[in-house]
Amino acid sequence: MSKEFKNNTIRGPINAWVFRVLSGYMDRLFGKSKRKLFKNHPEMVVEIGPGAGANMRYLKVGTRLIAIEPNIHMHANLKKTAIKYGIHLEIKEIVGESIDLPDNSCDFVVSTLVLCTVDDPEACMHQIKRILKPSGVFVFIEHVKARENSMLAFIQNLIHKPWHWFFEGCHTNRNTRQLLESVGFSRLELETYNSYSPFIPIIPQVRGRAIK
Ligand SMILES: C[S@@+](CC[C@H](N)C(=O)[O-])C[C@H]1O[C@@H](n2cnc3c(N)ncnc32)[C@H](O)[C@@H]1O
Repeated sequence: MSKEFKNNTIRGPINAWVFRVLSGYMDRLFGKSKRKLFKNHPEMVVEIGPGAGANMRYLKVGTRLIAIEPNIHMHANLKKTAIKYGIHLEIKEIVGESIDLPDNSCDFVVSTLVLCTVDDPEACMHQIKRILKPSGVFVFIEHVKARENSMLAFIQNLIHKPWHWFFEGCHTNRNTRQLLESVGFSRLELETYNSYSPFIPIIPQVRGRAIK
């Protein structure tokens, strides 16, 4: 299991810029789902791979956000976004596969468009489940592998290599749905759907909540 994150001095800053610039568009794509998923969140939220802080706009002012973000190039944007939305931000420059929070210590963990990118998604999911308190909630929106033999699957496979390179490890065709189903949460509310946008490889998605 890799517990290292290799910061890339060229693609890192480019991706930090891309995610900052896209945050308004992301809100149009995901805002409705995120508002619903984040409703009634507790005072402390742990987010895996928050990027430029696209999810802070859905958090209550004064929320304590523990940001597990190994990519140092994202940190400046995270800090700016936290000030903008009145979030108390604590950045941990560690990977989601190796979280230094105690067992059963969090009520609410978030990941959006991250399980596609972490090196070891199984390890990351086990860490999320480990740090959640019993009945704690994990909310997610993730893009997933398309149906076998579909046109979307063909496009995902075709573009995988350059996409993976540019987006610093993102897998267009990861079976994250299967992973979420295998972790052993006491309840999993998962919806599979297509989110149509010009970003064709990430059209097939899952969203929902997993309860420990
Ligand atoms: C596609 S971006 C998504 C950013 C943000 N969650 C959003 O919805 O806009 C993926 C994020 O995961 C982070 N990441 C990559 N590998 C990671 C790991 N092993 N653990 C935690 N975060 C990771 C990246 O640095 C990046 O910020």
